[in-house]
Amino acid sequence: MRITRLTIRNLRRLAQVELQPGPGLNLLVGENGAGKTSVLEALHLMAYGRSFRGRVRDGLVRSGAEAVEVFVEWRPGGHGDGATRRAGLRHAGDRWTGRLDGADVAQLGDLCAALAVVSFEPGSHALVEGGGEPRRRFMDWGLFHVEHEFLPAWRRYARALRQRNALLKAQRPDAELEGWELEMAAAGDEMTRSRGAYLARLDRQLAELVPSLSPGLGAAELAFQPGWRRQEVSLADALLLSRGRDRQVGHTTVGPHRADWRVRVGAAPEGEPLSRGQAKLVALACLLAQAADLGERHGAWPVVALDDLASELDAAHRGRVLALLERTGAQVFVTGTDWAPLERPRRRADAVMFHVEHGRVGPLPATGREPGGPGPVGPE
Ligand SMILES: Nc1ncnc2c1ncn2[C@@H]1O[C@H](COP(=O)(O)OP(=O)(O)OP(=O)(O)O)[C@@H](O)[C@H]1O
Ligand SMILES: [Mg+2]
Repeated sequence: MRITRLTIRNLRRLAQVELQPGPGLNLLVGENGAGKTSVLEALHLMAYGRSFRGRVRDGLVRSGAEAVEVFVEWRPGGHGDGATRRAGLRHAGDRWTGRLDGADVAQLGDLCAALAVVSFEPGSHALVEGGGEPRRRFMDWGLFHVEHEFLPAWRRYARALRQRNALLKAQRPDAELEGWELEMAAAGDEMTRSRGAYLARLDRQLAELVPSLSPGLGAAELAFQPGWRRQEVSLADALLLSRGRDRQVGHTTVGPHRADWRVRVGAAPEGEPLSRGQAKLVALACLLAQAADLGERHGAWPVVALDDLASELDAAHRGRVLALLERTGAQVFVTGTDWAPLERPRRRADAVMFHVEHGRVGPLPATGREPGGPGPVGPE
């Protein structure tokens, strides 16, 4: 997957930005607050319907503007081949409109399914250290891209769960719960089978990735937690057994909506807490495992966005992750405040450099002109 054109309007301080990224490594450098992360948020928004820094309504729309707008053109093939696709999203926080290849889209999910982007950013360690929500979102986003039956099962389950919760709150009799529990069990079993198979594939990807990405972490192992004691009871029975407790708390306490997964690494064999840097490396390995799986399934790696790479990883890890990505042929976006840590990648033949300054993004000619020189090329 290769983005050939990116237009951003009214995203944080970016009033209007247009970029023509290169097919390989794209480096975006500028001082603090210049708008570098915002460029990556635009890509993330198109692929997830939200930013990695929160929802659209949490400050993504530029002050004074009505909505953020992102337009992307890309070629879906592994070598940047395939017919050009186009997507546009206008999002005002509480409402949105989207276009995909010239047609309106009815569901935001349809738009997000088109362009795959994997983002690693300063908050990514939450994937390892935080609550279950980001891990479930990670797992389901990956599945949603590789398995068409997953989203319908997920929607059926979510609807039945909402109904059961409403009945529990209203203290309705057991007979009314039964139908929804059957529906939850049917859809939930299907979701869980997909999730289990998906995480087993990611486990294999991790086993391959971690030794080359971060040998110091030791062997990595990913374990799935389905959300109930699946080894002992069926989902239908688990729901039946938890009715009493669920009535007391007023919601459903077991089931795939409580699913989770964990990575155990050799460096912390008993599940000891990881250092912040180690947690970041594990999170990065999981994201790359997901990207590798997508790459295998689609024959094309997703776009990879690495925010503030130099402050997240040491030089050795930076070098390894960029070398690994170069081998895959993925299109990569890397931001940083300084050219110095990116000096080596910058010398790569396919590297394209952008200077971000005061919310404007301009190409940096390959002739070695340094930022701070004649100034960036601004928007039209
Ligand atoms: N809703 C908004 N409207 C206008 N400006 C905003 C909005 N939200 C954030 N900003 C401004 O946008 C900038 C944030 O941009 P961004 O986080 O992309 O910068 P950055 O280049 O990644 O900086 P850093 O190097 O510190 O990570 C800040 O200057 C901030 O004040
Ligand atoms: Mg930033």
